[in-house]
Amino acid sequence: MRILGIETSCDETAVALVEDGRLLGERLATQVDTHALFGGVVPEIASREHLRVLPRLYRQLMDATGLRAEDLDGVAVARGPGLLGSLLVGVSFAKGLCLASGTDLIGVNHLWAHLLAPGLEGELRFPALGLLVSGGHTHTYLIQSPTEFELLGRTLDDAAGEAFDKTAKMLNFPYPGGRFIDDLAREAEPDTGLFPRPYIDNPTLDFSFSGLKTAVANHVADHPELVFETMADPQAVADLPGERRAALARVCASFNWAVADTLRIKVERALKRVGAVRSLIVAGGVAANTGVREAMRTVADGHGLALTLPSLSLCTDNGAMIAHAGWLLAKAGCRHGLDLEAIPRGRIVPLDWERAAPKG
Ligand code: KG4
Ligand code: ZN
Repeated sequence: MRILGIETSCDETAVALVEDGRLLGERLATQVDTHALFGGVVPEIASREHLRVLPRLYRQLMDATGLRAEDLDGVAVARGPGLLGSLLVGVSFAKGLCLASGTDLIGVNHLWAHLLAPGLEGELRFPALGLLVSGGHTHTYLIQSPTEFELLGRTLDDAAGEAFDKTAKMLNFPYPGGRFIDDLAREAEPDTGLFPRPYIDNPTLDFSFSGLKTAVANHVADHPELVFETMADPQAVADLPGERRAALARVCASFNWAVADTLRIKVERALKRVGAVRSLIVAGGVAANTGVREAMRTVADGHGLALTLPSLSLCTDNGAMIAHAGWLLAKAGCRHGLDLEAIPRGRIVPLDWERAAPKG
Protein backbone atom coordinates (compact mmCIF):
# COMPACT_ATOMS: atom_id res chain seq x y z
CA MET A 1 0.00 0.00 0.00
CA ARG A 2 1.32 3.42 -1.03
CA ILE A 3 0.30 6.42 1.09
CA LEU A 4 1.04 10.13 0.63
CA GLY A 5 1.37 12.09 3.89
CA ILE A 6 0.73 15.84 4.20
CA GLU A 7 1.73 17.91 7.25
CA THR A 8 0.75 21.58 7.66
CA SER A 9 -0.34 21.80 11.29
CA CYS A 10 2.12 24.46 12.44
CA ASP A 11 5.17 25.98 10.78
CA GLU A 12 6.56 23.11 8.68
CA THR A 13 5.11 22.25 5.31
CA ALA A 14 5.93 18.62 4.55
CA VAL A 15 4.97 15.77 2.24
CA ALA A 16 6.19 12.17 2.17
CA LEU A 17 5.45 8.85 0.53
CA VAL A 18 5.38 5.60 2.46
CA GLU A 19 4.96 2.21 0.86
CA ASP A 20 4.22 -0.72 3.19
CA GLY A 21 5.93 0.96 6.12
CA ARG A 22 8.99 2.07 4.11
CA LEU A 23 9.76 5.72 3.32
CA LEU A 24 9.99 6.28 -0.45
CA GLY A 25 10.76 10.00 -0.31
CA GLU A 26 9.92 13.26 1.41
CA ARG A 27 10.08 17.04 1.02
CA LEU A 28 10.00 19.58 3.85
CA ALA A 29 10.04 23.37 3.99
CA THR A 30 10.37 25.04 7.36
CA GLN A 31 9.11 28.55 8.04
CA VAL A 32 11.20 28.90 11.16
CA ASP A 33 13.27 31.84 9.88
CA THR A 34 10.12 33.77 8.93
CA HIS A 35 8.54 33.38 12.37
CA ALA A 36 11.85 33.97 14.18
CA LEU A 37 11.49 37.66 13.32
CA PHE A 38 8.37 37.72 15.55
CA GLY A 39 9.69 35.39 18.29
CA GLY A 40 6.84 32.93 17.72
CA VAL A 41 4.60 31.43 15.04
CA VAL A 42 2.24 33.99 13.42
CA PRO A 43 -0.79 31.90 12.37
CA GLU A 44 -1.85 34.06 9.41
CA ILE A 45 1.65 34.02 7.92
CA ALA A 46 1.93 30.26 8.53
CA SER A 47 -1.27 29.53 6.55
CA ARG A 48 -0.18 31.69 3.62
CA GLU A 49 3.22 30.03 3.50
CA HIS A 50 1.66 26.54 3.46
CA LEU A 51 -0.60 27.63 0.60
CA ARG A 52 2.36 28.99 -1.35
CA VAL A 53 4.75 26.07 -0.77
CA LEU A 54 2.65 22.89 -0.52
CA PRO A 55 1.78 22.44 -4.24
CA ARG A 56 5.45 22.80 -5.16
CA LEU A 57 6.64 20.27 -2.57
CA TYR A 58 3.98 17.81 -3.73
CA ARG A 59 5.03 18.19 -7.38
CA GLN A 60 8.73 17.76 -6.51
CA LEU A 61 8.04 14.61 -4.51
CA MET A 62 5.87 13.02 -7.20
CA ASP A 63 8.39 13.88 -9.93
CA ALA A 64 11.27 12.47 -7.88
CA THR A 65 9.44 9.17 -7.27
CA GLY A 66 7.87 8.98 -10.75
CA LEU A 67 4.38 8.53 -9.29
CA ARG A 68 0.99 10.08 -10.10
CA ALA A 69 -1.96 10.67 -7.79
CA GLU A 70 -3.67 7.65 -9.40
CA ASP A 71 -0.82 5.44 -8.12
CA LEU A 72 -1.67 6.21 -4.49
CA ASP A 73 -3.77 3.97 -2.24
CA GLY A 74 -4.47 6.79 0.18
CA VAL A 75 -3.80 10.42 1.02
CA ALA A 76 -3.11 10.92 4.73
CA VAL A 77 -3.29 14.42 6.14
CA ALA A 78 -2.64 15.89 9.59
CA ARG A 79 -6.17 17.01 10.53
CA GLY A 80 -5.34 18.30 14.02
CA PRO A 81 -4.64 19.43 16.58
CA GLY A 82 -2.85 22.48 15.23
CA LEU A 83 -3.38 25.99 13.87
CA LEU A 84 -6.75 25.90 12.18
CA GLY A 85 -5.87 28.03 9.14
CA SER A 86 -2.72 25.99 8.57
CA LEU A 87 -4.52 22.66 8.92
CA LEU A 88 -7.17 23.77 6.44
CA VAL A 89 -4.52 24.26 3.75
CA GLY A 90 -3.31 20.64 4.06
CA VAL A 91 -6.80 19.18 4.50
CA SER A 92 -8.18 21.06 1.48
CA PHE A 93 -5.23 20.04 -0.67
CA ALA A 94 -5.69 16.39 0.38
CA LYS A 95 -9.41 16.52 -0.38
CA GLY A 96 -8.70 17.97 -3.82
CA LEU A 97 -6.28 15.15 -4.61
CA CYS A 98 -8.75 12.50 -3.44
CA LEU A 99 -11.60 14.05 -5.37
CA ALA A 100 -9.54 14.17 -8.56
CA SER A 101 -8.01 10.69 -8.30
CA GLY A 102 -10.66 8.69 -6.41
CA THR A 103 -8.07 7.81 -3.75
CA ASP A 104 -9.04 7.26 -0.07
CA LEU A 105 -8.70 10.18 2.35
CA ILE A 106 -7.23 9.43 5.79
CA GLY A 107 -7.31 12.10 8.51
CA VAL A 108 -4.43 11.65 10.94
CA ASN A 109 -4.13 12.84 14.54
CA HIS A 110 -0.86 14.78 14.50
CA LEU A 111 -0.05 13.71 18.09
CA TRP A 112 -0.56 10.02 17.40
CA ALA A 113 1.57 10.36 14.28
CA HIS A 114 4.48 11.67 16.39
CA LEU A 115 4.27 8.62 18.66
CA LEU A 116 3.94 6.14 15.80
CA ALA A 117 6.81 7.72 13.80
CA PRO A 118 9.55 5.48 15.23
CA GLY A 119 7.74 2.59 13.51
CA LEU A 120 9.52 3.77 10.36
CA GLU A 121 12.84 2.86 11.95
CA GLY A 122 12.05 -0.27 13.92
CA GLU A 123 9.31 -2.37 15.44
CA LEU A 124 6.68 -0.74 17.67
CA ARG A 125 5.83 -2.97 20.62
CA PHE A 126 2.31 -2.73 22.07
CA PRO A 127 0.96 -2.15 24.59
CA ALA A 128 3.23 0.85 25.03
CA LEU A 129 3.41 3.84 27.29
CA GLY A 130 3.71 6.92 25.09
CA LEU A 131 5.16 10.29 26.10
CA LEU A 132 4.58 13.08 23.61
CA VAL A 133 6.61 16.20 24.34
CA SER A 134 6.30 18.92 21.71
CA GLY A 135 5.96 22.67 21.39
CA GLY A 136 2.20 22.49 21.94
CA HIS A 137 1.61 19.30 23.93
CA THR A 138 2.82 17.20 26.82
CA HIS A 139 0.73 14.04 26.89
CA THR A 140 1.10 10.52 28.22
CA TYR A 141 -0.90 7.72 26.63
CA LEU A 142 -1.47 4.03 27.05
CA ILE A 143 -1.20 2.81 23.46
CA GLN A 144 -2.76 -0.58 22.74
CA SER A 145 -2.44 -0.41 18.96
CA PRO A 146 -2.07 2.24 16.21
CA THR A 147 -5.80 2.99 16.55
CA GLU A 148 -6.21 2.73 20.34
CA PHE A 149 -4.73 5.56 22.42
CA GLU A 150 -5.91 6.25 25.97
CA LEU A 151 -4.90 9.69 27.29
CA LEU A 152 -3.43 9.35 30.79
CA GLY A 153 -1.97 12.77 31.58
CA ARG A 154 -1.57 16.14 29.94
CA THR A 155 -0.25 19.58 30.74
CA LEU A 156 -2.60 21.97 32.48
CA ASP A 157 -0.78 25.03 31.10
CA ASP A 158 2.49 25.24 29.15
CA ALA A 159 3.80 22.31 27.14
CA ALA A 160 7.35 21.10 27.79
CA GLY A 161 8.55 22.62 24.51
CA GLU A 162 6.84 25.88 25.38
CA ALA A 163 8.71 25.92 28.72
CA PHE A 164 11.98 25.50 26.78
CA ASP A 165 11.07 28.18 24.27
CA LYS A 166 9.84 30.69 26.87
CA THR A 167 12.93 30.18 29.02
CA ALA A 168 15.07 30.69 25.93
CA LYS A 169 13.13 33.85 25.12
CA MET A 170 13.75 35.24 28.63
CA LEU A 171 17.47 34.77 28.00
CA ASN A 172 17.12 36.31 24.51
CA PHE A 173 18.32 33.11 22.81
CA PRO A 174 17.53 32.57 19.12
CA TYR A 175 14.04 31.27 18.31
CA PRO A 176 12.97 28.49 18.82
CA GLY A 177 15.34 28.19 21.74
CA GLY A 178 14.92 24.59 23.02
CA ARG A 179 17.85 23.34 20.99
CA PHE A 180 20.19 26.09 22.29
CA ILE A 181 19.31 25.33 25.90
CA ASP A 182 20.05 21.67 25.19
CA ASP A 183 23.44 22.50 23.61
CA LEU A 184 24.58 24.70 26.51
CA ALA A 185 23.15 22.33 29.15
CA ARG A 186 25.55 19.64 27.95
CA GLU A 187 28.48 21.84 29.01
CA ALA A 188 27.62 22.01 32.73
CA GLU A 189 26.41 19.98 35.70
CA PRO A 190 22.92 20.92 36.88
CA ASP A 191 22.37 22.62 40.19
CA THR A 192 19.38 20.55 41.29
CA GLY A 193 18.42 23.12 43.93
CA LEU A 194 18.20 26.05 41.52
CA PHE A 195 14.76 25.38 39.96
CA PRO A 196 11.78 23.37 41.25
CA ARG A 197 10.53 20.28 39.50
CA PRO A 198 7.02 21.58 38.93
CA TYR A 199 3.77 19.90 39.99
CA ILE A 200 5.21 16.63 41.27
CA ASP A 201 3.99 16.67 44.90
CA ASN A 202 0.56 15.30 44.04
CA PRO A 203 -0.85 11.96 42.85
CA THR A 204 -1.84 13.12 39.34
CA LEU A 205 -0.38 12.19 35.98
CA ASP A 206 -0.92 15.73 34.66
CA PHE A 207 1.86 18.25 34.17
CA SER A 208 2.19 21.96 34.83
CA PHE A 209 5.23 23.88 33.69
CA SER A 210 4.12 27.44 34.46
CA GLY A 211 5.67 27.41 37.97
CA LEU A 212 9.04 26.52 36.51
CA LYS A 213 8.70 29.37 34.04
CA THR A 214 8.11 31.79 36.95
CA ALA A 215 11.15 30.42 38.80
CA VAL A 216 13.29 31.05 35.72
CA ALA A 217 11.83 34.56 35.35
CA ASN A 218 12.73 35.34 38.99
CA HIS A 219 16.25 33.99 38.57
CA VAL A 220 16.76 35.98 35.39
CA ALA A 221 15.45 39.15 37.09
CA ASP A 222 18.06 38.64 39.86
CA HIS A 223 20.81 37.96 37.29
CA PRO A 224 20.28 40.36 34.37
CA GLU A 225 23.89 39.79 33.30
CA LEU A 226 22.80 36.35 31.99
CA VAL A 227 20.54 37.82 29.32
CA PHE A 228 21.64 38.75 25.77
CA GLU A 229 20.86 42.43 25.15
CA THR A 230 18.98 41.75 21.95
CA MET A 231 17.83 38.46 20.47
CA ALA A 232 21.05 36.54 19.82
CA ASP A 233 21.78 34.73 16.59
CA PRO A 234 23.15 31.16 16.75
CA GLN A 235 26.68 32.43 16.14
CA ALA A 236 26.48 34.73 19.19
CA VAL A 237 25.56 31.72 21.33
CA ALA A 238 28.42 29.69 19.83
CA ASP A 239 30.85 32.58 20.49
CA LEU A 240 29.85 33.16 24.16
CA PRO A 241 33.03 33.79 26.12
CA GLY A 242 34.28 31.73 29.11
CA GLU A 243 32.82 32.89 32.40
CA ARG A 244 29.51 34.12 31.02
CA ARG A 245 29.19 30.92 29.04
CA ALA A 246 29.76 28.80 32.16
CA ALA A 247 27.12 30.75 34.13
CA LEU A 248 24.54 30.41 31.35
CA ALA A 249 25.38 26.73 30.84
CA ARG A 250 24.71 26.10 34.54
CA VAL A 251 21.28 27.78 34.28
CA CYS A 252 20.46 25.79 31.15
CA ALA A 253 21.61 22.50 32.70
CA SER A 254 19.58 23.16 35.87
CA PHE A 255 16.46 24.07 33.89
CA ASN A 256 16.88 21.10 31.57
CA TRP A 257 17.30 18.77 34.54
CA ALA A 258 14.12 20.15 36.19
CA VAL A 259 12.09 19.41 33.03
CA ALA A 260 13.66 16.01 32.31
CA ASP A 261 13.36 14.80 35.90
CA THR A 262 9.73 15.97 36.11
CA LEU A 263 8.98 13.97 32.97
CA ARG A 264 10.80 10.97 34.48
CA ILE A 265 8.75 11.13 37.69
CA LYS A 266 5.41 11.38 35.86
CA VAL A 267 6.29 8.61 33.41
CA GLU A 268 7.34 6.33 36.31
CA ARG A 269 4.01 7.13 37.97
CA ALA A 270 2.08 6.40 34.77
CA LEU A 271 3.87 3.07 34.39
CA LYS A 272 2.85 2.09 37.91
CA ARG A 273 -0.75 3.04 37.11
CA VAL A 274 -1.12 1.12 33.82
CA GLY A 275 0.59 -2.14 34.76
CA ALA A 276 2.53 -4.23 32.28
CA VAL A 277 3.54 -2.66 28.96
CA ARG A 278 6.18 -3.79 26.48
CA SER A 279 7.77 -0.48 25.53
CA LEU A 280 8.16 3.21 26.26
CA ILE A 281 7.75 5.45 23.21
CA VAL A 282 8.95 9.05 23.48
CA ALA A 283 8.24 11.47 20.64
CA GLY A 284 7.80 15.13 19.62
CA GLY A 285 10.34 17.94 19.27
CA VAL A 286 11.48 17.76 22.90
CA ALA A 287 12.30 14.05 22.44
CA ALA A 288 15.38 15.44 20.66
CA ASN A 289 16.60 16.80 24.00
CA THR A 290 19.69 15.08 25.42
CA GLY A 291 18.56 15.27 29.06
CA VAL A 292 15.07 13.98 28.23
CA ARG A 293 16.51 11.10 26.20
CA GLU A 294 18.83 10.15 29.10
CA ALA A 295 16.01 10.36 31.67
CA MET A 296 13.79 8.11 29.54
CA ARG A 297 16.66 5.63 29.07
CA THR A 298 16.89 5.44 32.89
CA VAL A 299 13.13 4.78 33.18
CA ALA A 300 13.12 2.11 30.47
CA ASP A 301 16.18 0.31 31.88
CA GLY A 302 14.71 0.42 35.39
CA HIS A 303 11.47 -1.21 34.20
CA GLY A 304 13.02 -3.62 31.69
CA LEU A 305 11.18 -1.93 28.80
CA ALA A 306 12.22 -1.44 25.21
CA LEU A 307 12.84 2.30 24.68
CA THR A 308 11.62 3.63 21.36
CA LEU A 309 13.06 7.02 20.48
CA PRO A 310 12.79 8.43 16.96
CA SER A 311 15.95 9.70 15.30
CA LEU A 312 16.29 13.48 15.52
CA SER A 313 14.78 14.26 12.08
CA LEU A 314 11.66 12.25 13.00
CA CYS A 315 11.23 14.09 16.34
CA THR A 316 10.16 17.45 14.94
CA ASP A 317 7.22 17.88 12.56
CA ASN A 318 7.60 16.00 9.26
CA GLY A 319 5.57 14.40 6.50
CA ALA A 320 6.95 10.88 6.95
CA MET A 321 5.20 10.46 10.30
CA ILE A 322 1.85 11.43 8.75
CA ALA A 323 2.30 9.06 5.80
CA HIS A 324 3.36 6.27 8.15
CA ALA A 325 0.44 6.80 10.56
CA GLY A 326 -1.87 6.98 7.54
CA TRP A 327 -0.52 3.66 6.31
CA LEU A 328 -1.15 2.04 9.72
CA LEU A 329 -4.71 3.44 9.76
CA ALA A 330 -5.36 2.33 6.18
CA LYS A 331 -4.14 -1.16 7.07
CA ALA A 332 -6.65 -1.20 9.94
CA GLY A 333 -9.39 -0.25 7.44
CA CYS A 334 -9.78 3.37 8.63
CA ARG A 335 -10.58 6.18 6.20
CA HIS A 336 -12.57 9.43 6.08
CA GLY A 337 -15.19 11.01 3.87
CA LEU A 338 -14.61 14.31 2.08
CA ASP A 339 -16.40 16.04 4.98
CA LEU A 340 -13.30 15.47 7.17
CA GLU A 341 -13.00 18.32 9.66
CA ALA A 342 -9.79 20.07 10.70
CA ILE A 343 -9.47 20.21 14.51
CA PRO A 344 -7.79 23.21 16.18
CA ARG A 345 -5.58 22.90 19.23
CA GLY A 346 -7.64 22.52 22.41
CA ARG A 347 -10.33 20.32 20.86
CA ILE A 348 -10.28 16.52 21.09
CA VAL A 349 -9.62 14.91 17.71
CA PRO A 350 -12.66 12.65 17.13
CA LEU A 351 -12.44 8.96 16.23
CA ASP A 352 -14.74 9.45 13.27
CA TRP A 353 -13.34 6.98 10.73
CA GLU A 354 -15.43 4.99 8.34
CA ARG A 355 -14.26 1.42 9.06
CA ALA A 356 -13.76 -0.92 6.14
CA ALA A 357 -12.23 -4.39 6.21
CA PRO A 358 -8.55 -4.28 7.24
CA LYS A 359 -6.18 -4.28 4.24
CA GLY A 360 -2.98 -6.32 3.79
O1 KG4 B 1 7.02 18.49 17.72
P1 KG4 B 1 7.52 19.82 17.30
O2 KG4 B 1 8.43 19.91 16.13
O3 KG4 B 1 6.36 20.81 16.97
C1 KG4 B 1 5.13 20.78 17.59
O4 KG4 B 1 4.26 20.00 17.12
O5 KG4 B 1 5.01 21.51 18.59
O6 KG4 B 1 8.22 20.45 18.61
C2 KG4 B 1 8.83 21.72 18.60
C3 KG4 B 1 9.36 21.98 20.00
C4 KG4 B 1 9.84 23.42 20.19
O7 KG4 B 1 9.32 23.89 21.42
C5 KG4 B 1 11.36 23.27 20.24
O8 KG4 B 1 12.02 24.26 21.01
C6 KG4 B 1 11.48 21.93 20.92
O9 KG4 B 1 10.49 21.15 20.29
N1 KG4 B 1 12.81 21.31 20.72
C7 KG4 B 1 13.66 21.08 21.73
C8 KG4 B 1 14.82 20.50 21.16
N2 KG4 B 1 14.64 20.43 19.80
C9 KG4 B 1 13.37 20.93 19.56
N3 KG4 B 1 13.53 21.28 23.05
C10 KG4 B 1 14.56 20.92 23.83
N4 KG4 B 1 15.71 20.37 23.35
C11 KG4 B 1 15.88 20.14 22.04
N5 KG4 B 1 17.00 19.59 21.58
ZN1 ZN C 1 4.31 18.23 16.21
